[in-house]
Amino acid sequence: MEIYLAPMEGVTGHIVRNAFAHNFGGLDKYFTPFVPTAMRMSKKIKRDLDPANNKDVCLVPQIIPNTAEEVPQMLEQMKGLGYTEVNINLGCPSGTVTSKKRGSGMLLYPDELDRMLDGIYSSADMPLSVKTRIGFHSPDEWPVILDVYKKYPMCEFIIHPRVRDEMYSGFPHLDAYALAEEAFADSPVPLCYNGDIWKLSDYHERAAMFPHTDRFMIGRGLLARPDLAAQIKGLPVPDLRAQLRAFCDEIYDGYRTIFSSEKDAVWHMKEIWANLSKSFEDSGSLVKKLLKAQTPVEYNIYLNKIFDSLELTER
Ligand SMILES: Cc1cc2nc3c(=O)[nH]c(=O)nc-3n(C[C@H](O)[C@H](O)[C@H](O)COP(=O)(O)O)c2cc1C
Repeated sequence: MEIYLAPMEGVTGHIVRNAFAHNFGGLDKYFTPFVPTAMRMSKKIKRDLDPANNKDVCLVPQIIPNTAEEVPQMLEQMKGLGYTEVNINLGCPSGTVTSKKRGSGMLLYPDELDRMLDGIYSSADMPLSVKTRIGFHSPDEWPVILDVYKKYPMCEFIIHPRVRDEMYSGFPHLDAYALAEEAFADSPVPLCYNGDIWKLSDYHERAAMFPHTDRFMIGRGLLARPDLAAQIKGLPVPDLRAQLRAFCDEIYDGYRTIFSSEKDAVWHMKEIWANLSKSFEDSGSLVKKLLKAQTPVEYNIYLNKIFDSLELTER
C-alpha cells in the first residue's frame, strides 16, 4: 500500500514536505499545491518546484486547467524541471477558482470536462493523474462525472468523495467512492482514496471498506499526526516527542529563511498548529499564545511549554 501527502495550498510547500521526509517518512509521494496556469512561473512557484529543494521527496506537480489548450505548455515547463508525472486538479472548491471553471468548477459541465480530458489525454506525452471531487452541488452528479473519467488513461485517479458545496465539512460520501471502485473494477487505472483519515483506525476502516484500493492520500490527518504514515506502514518512530519537535523546528527555521519578517514566519506556523495541536492533549490555550508570538524568542517560550508540559494524544 502507498501513502501520499495531499497537496494543501499555503501549507504543503517544499519546507513542510521536506520536514515530513526528514523526520517521519512513510510517504511514497508528495503533490505540490496547484500551480496556476501561466507562461512563466512566479518566483515563489519556481522555488517550490526547484528539484534542488525537493531532493528527498518523490514529487508530483499539480496543474489546474480549464481548457486542454493550456496544458501542453504547462507540461513542457514541468518536463523542463525534470518531472515525469503531473496531476490535474478537478477538486479545488475555492470560489475564485470555480468561477473560472477550474478545479471542481469544471464538474458542473460534464460535456466540457469530457472535451477537456479528451484534448489533454490525446496529446499528453507523460503520465497524468486526476484528483477530483464527486460533484459540485450534489453526489447525484457523480455517476455522470464518473462515466466521463472512465474513458481516460489516467495514471491514477484520486477521489475526495465530497461535493464542492461541502468544502471540507460533513463526512465523506463513502458510497460514492465505493461506486467508483465498482466502475473501475476492470480498469487498469488505480484508484486512490482521499478524505478524513485522521488516525490509524480511520485508515484501517477505509482499507477494509475499499479492498481494491491500495493508495491513500492524507492531508489534514498528517498535519495533525505527522507520524501517521509511518504508523500505518509499521515503521519505527523511536521518540515521537523529539521527532515532532524536530519537525516543527525544521518548518519554523525554513519559514524564517523564506519570509521577509519573523512575524510572517510565526503567522505561517498557524496553519501547521491548527492541525498539529491535535497531537497534544489540552493544547488550546498554549497554542493560542504561541500563535500570538511576535518574535522567535516569544514563539520558542510557548513552543517549549507545549513540548515540556503537554501529554501526547494517544496513537
Ligand atoms: C488549506 C487547504 C489547501 C488545499 N489546497 C489544495 C490544492 O492546492 N490542491 C488540491 O488538489 N487539493 C487541495 N486541498 C485539498 C486536500 O488536498 C485534500 O483533498 C483535503 O484536505 C481532504 O483530505 P484530508 O481530509 O486528508 O485533509 C487543500 C485543502 C486544504 C485544507
